[in-house]
Amino acid sequence: MALITTVEDLRVLAKKRVPRMFYDYADAGSWTESTYRANEADFASIKFRQRVAVNLENRSLRSTMVGQEVAMPVALAPTGLTGMQRADGEILAARAAEKFGVPFTLSTMSICSIEDVAAHTSKPFWFQLYVMKDRPFVERLIERARAAQCSALVLTLDLQVLGQRHKDLRNGMTAPPKMTLANILNLMTRPRWCMGMLGTRRHGFGNIVGHASDVSDMSSLSAWTSQQFDPALSWADVEWIKRRWGGKLIIKGIMDPEDAQLAADSGADALIVSNHGGRQLDGAQSSIAALPAIVDAVGARIEVHMDGGVRSGQDVIRALALGAKGVYIGRPFLYGLGAMGEEGVGKCLDIIRNELDLTMAFCGLRDVRDVSARILLAGSSGVC
Ligand code: GLV
Repeated sequence: MALITTVEDLRVLAKKRVPRMFYDYADAGSWTESTYRANEADFASIKFRQRVAVNLENRSLRSTMVGQEVAMPVALAPTGLTGMQRADGEILAARAAEKFGVPFTLSTMSICSIEDVAAHTSKPFWFQLYVMKDRPFVERLIERARAAQCSALVLTLDLQVLGQRHKDLRNGMTAPPKMTLANILNLMTRPRWCMGMLGTRRHGFGNIVGHASDVSDMSSLSAWTSQQFDPALSWADVEWIKRRWGGKLIIKGIMDPEDAQLAADSGADALIVSNHGGRQLDGAQSSIAALPAIVDAVGARIEVHMDGGVRSGQDVIRALALGAKGVYIGRPFLYGLGAMGEEGVGKCLDIIRNELDLTMAFCGLRDVRDVSARILLAGSSGVC
């Protein structure tokens, strides 16, 4: 196997090892994918100030997110169907994150259930919640996350309706995959993946199947969301969830300073500037471009985190410089998982840590908590 030195190397390997429908599911954006592309492209325009002859000994990447210690201010984002990138994927990724010392966020739409991940890890992870019409089911999910000792709830607000991803429609994406001729031919080229799936019983949506009533079509994500997700979701529901949960609450999917004010008013502990990895509103600005105005509006009242387009430690430090207190990676860890399982997620985190550490040093800093807009070339991002 070729030497893996970048997140891109992991992506290339994952593409070879993961069945097309699941690789495409993770990798795609919605409609023209303009926001998906902007998420990555806008990072590249932000330039650093190189500093020299400053003491660079004893550097530290340790920080906190919602008051919790992290080995670096990076968390694994909630991603749907992670256990389809690799058998038992959520358990593998949660273990890698635990070993590394960063938060793992389990999606509502995971393959391994909350209980399963809790049984295979020893430290608390975070749970991401979607609000469905069936409120007793939502209450039970919150109770299950509490019973599993999850240490933060990440409430996603930007997926009450689903953005169209053309590739999912073309591939007929379902979990588990339907045995059509095209799928069988594709699976035959992915023997490692097939062996893994034969060795696990976790093939469906573990948090939902057997827990939600009236589940008539669970295999297709678009059918499930349009049937079950509540398009009437409002800030009153956010407050209801905050009361029921009672612990650390992180609101995900904020792109507008007015919504950021409402998120801060709701009493949440943090918000995530996110356009869902360019998978929802195509034509929205990139997350990194949206970040500074949101930090300006509410940074003094609530922790501001971000996700979308992060592919390196350089991107992580750019987001921190523009005011993010924490940064999430989704696709990068999925590439690592699809490429090499638990080891690949660890590899992804190592790559990002090394890039973050050395970039911080080149910018003349020793402590990640000192990162600010001072490390950026004024005007290089159009925002400072
Ligand atoms: C779910 O979170 C998705 O973006 O598919």
